[in-house]
Amino acid sequence: MTATRRSPGHESGHPDISKVVLTPSQLQAKCKKLGARITKENQGRELILVVVLKGAFMFCSDLVRHVDLPVQIDFLAVSSYGDSTRSSGTVRIVKDLQKDVLGADVLLVEDIVDTGLTLAYLRTMLLDRRPRSLTTCALLSKSVCREVEVPVEYIGFDVPDEFLVGYGLDYGQRYRNLPFIGVLRPEMYRDEPQG
Ligand code: IMP
Ligand code: MG
Repeated sequence: MTATRRSPGHESGHPDISKVVLTPSQLQAKCKKLGARITKENQGRELILVVVLKGAFMFCSDLVRHVDLPVQIDFLAVSSYGDSTRSSGTVRIVKDLQKDVLGADVLLVEDIVDTGLTLAYLRTMLLDRRPRSLTTCALLSKSVCREVEVPVEYIGFDVPDEFLVGYGLDYGQRYRNLPFIGVLRPEMYRDEPQG
């Protein structure tokens, strides 16, 4: 643990985080619950888990331990935000899947669905490849921020419109390693250009 994480006077122990929204034990309990549901609802199938990098890496690694089915894991990397806190609406595939998903049962694993633009784009792209089924599991959903309607079959937590970091989620590529999810202090990003 670094000195900054231990600094006193902050609930999270991290000076850039104003409050902890989801603790490590809440996150673990949710992974267990979602994993059990995915197992139950996909009996007889082999799933290809498509993990959306980078944000979903930690969530998926915990989730998949609770999925008691034959699974394969593949990765997609997208860039939708640059280093800003607002969705640009433009999604760029930075790394594509290694395997063809034609005829496969695909479970897309996302960190957070905010406007829905990223997920809508990814769903269209993956459906074009004609999987047998396509479902989505997102750890977090900011349903109040949705701009496009998009199905999310498995949702961990519905969260308010606050910028969150930790447990895979970043701001400017930082904070992904925090074991909890917390609110980033607005003064950490308020100087950025909006739009
Ligand atoms: P959407 O396209 O607006 O739904 O945004 C989805 C992506 O934006 C997520 O996969 C995240 O990478 C990022 N994102 C949205 N909200 C947050 C947040 O509160 N913290 C960190 N990243 C976020
Ligand atoms: Mg992401």
